[in-house]
This record gives sequence, C-alpha cells and structure tokens, in this order.
Amino acid sequence: MRFYNYILGIIAIGLIAILNTSCSNNKTTNIDEKEQHFVDSVVNRLTLKQKIGQLCQFNTLGNINQMINLVKNDEVGSFLNVNDPEQINQLQKAALESPSGIPLIMGRDVIHGYKTVFPIPIGQASSFDTSLVRQACSIAAEEAASDGIRWTFSPMVDIARDPRWGRIAEGYGEDTYLASAMGIAAVKGYQGDNLNNPKSIAACVKHFAGYGAATAGRDYNSTFIPERQLRNVYLPPFKAVVKSGCASVMTSFNDNDGVPSTGNYHILTDILRFEWKFDGFVVTDWNSMSEMINHGFCADSENAALMAVTAGTDMEMCSRCYADNLENLVKKGVINEQLITERVKNIVRIKYRLGLFSNPYVNIPQEVKYSQKNLDVALKMSEESAILLKNEKVLPFGSNVKKILLTGPMADAPYDQLGTWCMDGESSHTITPLKAFQNSSYEVVYIPGIKYCRDKNTSEFQQVINAAKTVDAIVFVGGEESIMSGEAHSLSNIHLQGAQSELISQLSKVNKPLVTVIMAGRSLIIGEELDKSEAMLYWFHPGTMGGTALVNLLSGKAIPSAKTPVTFPKSEGQIPIYYNQNSTGRPASGKEPLLDEIPLNEKQTSLGYTSYYLDSGFGPLIPFGYGLSYTTFSFENLKINSNTFSINDTIEVSFNIKNTGDYDGVSIPQLYIRDLFGSITRPIKELKRFARVAVNKSSSIEYTFKLPVTDLAFCGMYFVDTIEPGKYKLWIAEDSSLQNALEYDFEVVIK
Ligand code: GLC
Repeated sequence: MRFYNYILGIIAIGLIAILNTSCSNNKTTNIDEKEQHFVDSVVNRLTLKQKIGQLCQFNTLGNINQMINLVKNDEVGSFLNVNDPEQINQLQKAALESPSGIPLIMGRDVIHGYKTVFPIPIGQASSFDTSLVRQACSIAAEEAASDGIRWTFSPMVDIARDPRWGRIAEGYGEDTYLASAMGIAAVKGYQGDNLNNPKSIAACVKHFAGYGAATAGRDYNSTFIPERQLRNVYLPPFKAVVKSGCASVMTSFNDNDGVPSTGNYHILTDILRFEWKFDGFVVTDWNSMSEMINHGFCADSENAALMAVTAGTDMEMCSRCYADNLENLVKKGVINEQLITERVKNIVRIKYRLGLFSNPYVNIPQEVKYSQKNLDVALKMSEESAILLKNEKVLPFGSNVKKILLTGPMADAPYDQLGTWCMDGESSHTITPLKAFQNSSYEVVYIPGIKYCRDKNTSEFQQVINAAKTVDAIVFVGGEESIMSGEAHSLSNIHLQGAQSELISQLSKVNKPLVTVIMAGRSLIIGEELDKSEAMLYWFHPGTMGGTALVNLLSGKAIPSAKTPVTFPKSEGQIPIYYNQNSTGRPASGKEPLLDEIPLNEKQTSLGYTSYYLDSGFGPLIPFGYGLSYTTFSFENLKINSNTFSINDTIEVSFNIKNTGDYDGVSIPQLYIRDLFGSITRPIKELKRFARVAVNKSSSIEYTFKLPVTDLAFCGMYFVDTIEPGKYKLWIAEDSSLQNALEYDFEVVIK
C-alpha cells in the first residue's frame, strides 16, 4: 500500500509542479495588446506571396542591386552576412518602399564578439562569471549594431560531453546548469533591457535540440537521446534561455531518434510553443530544411516545406523549400494559409520589438569598435578564462625571473588566437603573447620552434633547447589552430598535433621552469604534457587580448580563477566522459587494479566486477569544475536552515570561504546535490549553484547559496517534471571531484 501511496504522491507533486509552471507561464503569453494589434494589422493585409517572402532568409548575394530587387519584390524577409551599414540602409529603404513595407532583419554569427574578440564561448564558461559574459555580449551587440546587424545566431547552449566534436568550442560545456546560466547572461547582454534599443540585437538560441550528442563526436551525425534525457540534460538550457526572453531559436542539423529537428513537431510545437509558451520565431540552420531530403526524412523540396511548416519552423535559412513550394501547397489545399500567417506573425513580432518599423536604419557611431573600454573587458575575460591546471611553485614569476624563452606555435599566432567562428575580428588587432612580452619588463628570447600547431618539422628544436639553457624560465604556447575546432571540424585524435609534445618533452629535460600554455578549441588529451611541465595554463582560444592577459597572469598582476567547464579525459577511449553520470549497479571504487598491476594468468573472477577501464581506471584526467589559483581556499562552518524541506521551501546553505594562501584571489564555490533514490536512476551529483567570491589573503568571508526545492525537479518515470520526496546529499566543493567538500544530508518531505 505504501508504495502505491508513494507513486500517487509523486504524481500529485508532479501535477502541482506543472500547474504552478503553466499558471506562471500564462503571464508570459499575455503578448502586449498594442503589439498584437500592430502585428495583426501588418500581416493580415499581406498577400500570400508577401507572407512567403517574410519566411525566407538568404545569404548575401554579394551584389547589392540583386538584393534590392528581391526586397522590392517582397521575396525576402532577412539576409545574413550583409554587414556594410550603407548597404543595409539601402536595403532597408527598399524594404520600407516595397508593397509589404516590412523592414528586413539582418543576421550574422556574432558568436564571441564582433570586432573586439572575446574568448570562445567555452572559454567564457570557464570564467564562471555570468555578469562578465553579459557585459561581453552587450559589447558585441553594440559593435555589431553599429554595422546594422540586429540579430545574432548566438548563444549556443548545446550540452557537449565529447571533445572530439569540434563545436564543443562554441557552447558552454557539459553541464546543464552552467550552460543555462551562461545562456541567460548572453541573451541579457545581446538584447539588453529593451530590444528596441538600437544597440540591442536579437539573440538566437541554438541548436535546438540535442546537437551536441552527435554520435562518436562526429559533427552532423545522428543523435539518439531518449525523452527523459532530452528533458533532463539537453533541453533545460534552451528552456532557461527562452524563459529569459530570447527572441529566436535555431533548429539543429541532427536527426534525433530518426527525426530531423527542422521537421520535429514534438520539440518545435509541443515543447517550445505549448509547454514553454515561446512567442519569438524559429529559424532553420543553414539549408537544414532542404537537408531533410538527404536525411531521407523528406522525399523532395515540397515535402520538406510541408514537414517544416507544419512542425513549427518559421524562417528558412538559405535553402528555397518555402520560396519554391509554399504557395503551391496552399493552392492545392494541402495546408491552410492561416498556418503561414501565424509563422509570419512570429517573425514580424520580433521585427516590431526590435523597433525596425520605426527605426530600421543604422545610426550608431563606428568609434564603438575596439574602444578601450571594450578591450579592457576583453582583457578581463581572457584573464578570468585561463585555467591554472598545475603550478609547482613557479607562478607567478618572482623577481628572479627576468629573461624568458618564449616558444611554441601559438606564441605569435594572431589569427588562430581568436578561435573559431570569428567572422569580423581582425587579427591585426590581436595582442599575441609575443607582442605582450615585447611590451613588458621581461627580456624575451623568441624562437617558435614549431611554425604552426600541425607542424611536424623539428629542425629548429636544437636552437630552442640551446636558448632554453640561457634563460630564467621557459614559456611554451601551443594548442590548436582555430581551424581545428568549430563546425564540421571533429577530430578522432585529440592529442596535441604536430611535434608539440616532442618539443615540450625536450624542454622538460632542460633544468629550467617550464610553463606550458595551451590555446585550444576543446579539452585535449594533455596528461603527458601536464606531467612534464612545472605549470600549465589552459585556455580555450582567448581572443584579442590573450597576450596581455598571459603576461598579467604569469607576472601575478592577475590571479587565475577559472574552472574547467568540461571534463578532461585521460584518453579518447574514455569518451563520452562527464561528471554527472549515473551510479550504475556496480560503481567503481577507484581502487581497482590497473592493467600493469595485474599478475600473469590472473583468474577471470579475481579482479572484481565494477564499472571501470583496466587501462585507464574510472576517473578523468581533470574533473569538471577544477582550476587552481595562486592562493588556496578552504570551506568551513557549513550551516543549513533545516534538514527537511517541502516543495515550497528554499534551502539556504551558508559557509565560510577562507583564503589560506599568500595572494588575494577569487574562489568559485560550487553547490552539488545528489538525489539518492528516484523514480528513475539519478546522477551521482549535479551542479545547482556557483558563485565568484573575492577573498583577500588571510581573510574569511561567509557566503550563502539559496536553492529553492523546486530546482530539484526533473523529468521522472512518468515524463512529468516532478520533485520527489526522499533523501538527498549536498556538497559545497571546489570542483566536481568533491575533494575536501563540505557535505550535508537533507530530506524532501510531503507536508
Ligand atoms: C552554420 C551553423 C550555425 C550558424 C549558421 C549561419 O551552418 O550551424 O550555427 O549560425 O550556419 O552561419
């Protein structure tokens, strides 16, 4: 009987949670009456052809007159990759003079800065600094808007647990909560407090949905994410960003369990519209509508248009399925014109919110680009995104370090330092480590040793080694060329390419402190290089100001604080690997014998039966949430407001952060929880809160996290978001390994 009551209890809680959610959502569906009237009045007077034109986005034709003709004929509602303000003003003038009179929305991939280039998004996530990410995106928005771009295809919140996937570079890592927090910050930065501010640009959360789970980490590959995992891992960042007011959503290339996203009614309408009450518009990814033919999901272009328009896709990027087929589909009576009208209203609504009907022209001063203020924020972000993975008392450099050997393929790589998806940042503005050292008080000897990351040529090595013997410290800067990550750039071998490891190995034999600095688009396999270096700073391509940030960090002017937003595997064989996995029925103890510890002719039954690898054990090389500082911290005096909570309670967790080292620093405490027993198996730990807390040396600060019990909700056995009663653990930790963490047990009860 008890179990039956328990199940009823879960369902009851679930229904309460849903009713609460849906009731609160009703507020978000009360679209402004004035806005609704405007949108209806504009769209309802359009011809079918004019409506179809609004659903079409084309890439720049490179010829302004050809584009003006399309606009004059109401055949297009948006362009991407036009970013000449004069041309945009000409196109907008033509749009306002066209029969429809509807302005264009101009889109572009402003992914991690426009002219001032910030660290790539996974680098920004390493900062765990949402307010700085918001600032960076606000700067990117103003710089882009000064060229007439009012819509960016960002933020990307695809959860990525596989560093072979090149696009891990563009998201915020493996964790659902971190990606949600960063995505919200990005949207607030791009869109500002009011979308119709000329300095604001519409955000576009992508790629909806599950794209980061590409099988084997090969880009565009199929995904097979079951509903519960979709709702517990991959969708929450999209839901969080949509709820924060994101103006648009981009469909993903992948087919999930056989259904390409661009034709997936369940995610585009059931979830995005009915459950989340999204009132912006959905755009496809590049050609992803016509690619449903390649998928074998659609027979032809007409079928692709039909599947997409009924599933919930509003705007088609680049391909012409809508342009070539929608009018026919209506005339044949296959679809009702009202369906198209609704699609157009979603787009016109955002054009209205952007203020394009009243102010479509570019009028922001060009001086905003690369302003000192912008560069200063980029410098701060580069400093805050550098992860100190190891430091055997060599950093920060002391007064005894005056002469430095700077070597490695990324020491002076102004283009590659900017990272993937850098459309408009100019490498001439990049401050490389070489430039920064040359402008510093250090005497620098620069010998690259390796010309570029894939370079296998070792002929310069002896010259490098000879120079290494004459200096006080060696700084090797390597990693990946920007082309080695990003879209369509997956790798099956994610060790350092070329002769980089060989050079590091030879340098490690010179009796001088070796600091290895990595600039990459993914978490590489770096175990050997880590062992051979006295210190290692790991960056995800740091952007324009990376060189200055490096000198500031090595000299101690800046103090590292960043944390890993992804797990670093020991080998490709461990992938996919992530911290918040399930327990399994036979969790590893961490004490299992490894291959070279196993005696010959060992009996099969002797090794025990737990979930681990004979050759690489269970754990990663570096866990999620890990990063060192020049100082150390300890957490003490954990205090919680109760040990039993009901659904409407808030868990208040107070603790002291003590700086136990010799430098002022920033601690990033992380709050993890574990649901010990659920209607489905649950992760062994989940990040639920984090913060950046500055603590000066020899001092201690009390900090409090507040965690509403409703934040423990998950999609359970019955595919309903539930908060289940039962026992939980809570940790305050420096990283997901939970070493030295403060621990607490609490219970959720049905009151
Ligand atoms: C690309 C990417 C997408 C980008 C779009 C426009 O294929 O998948 O992220 O925003 O096309 O460039």
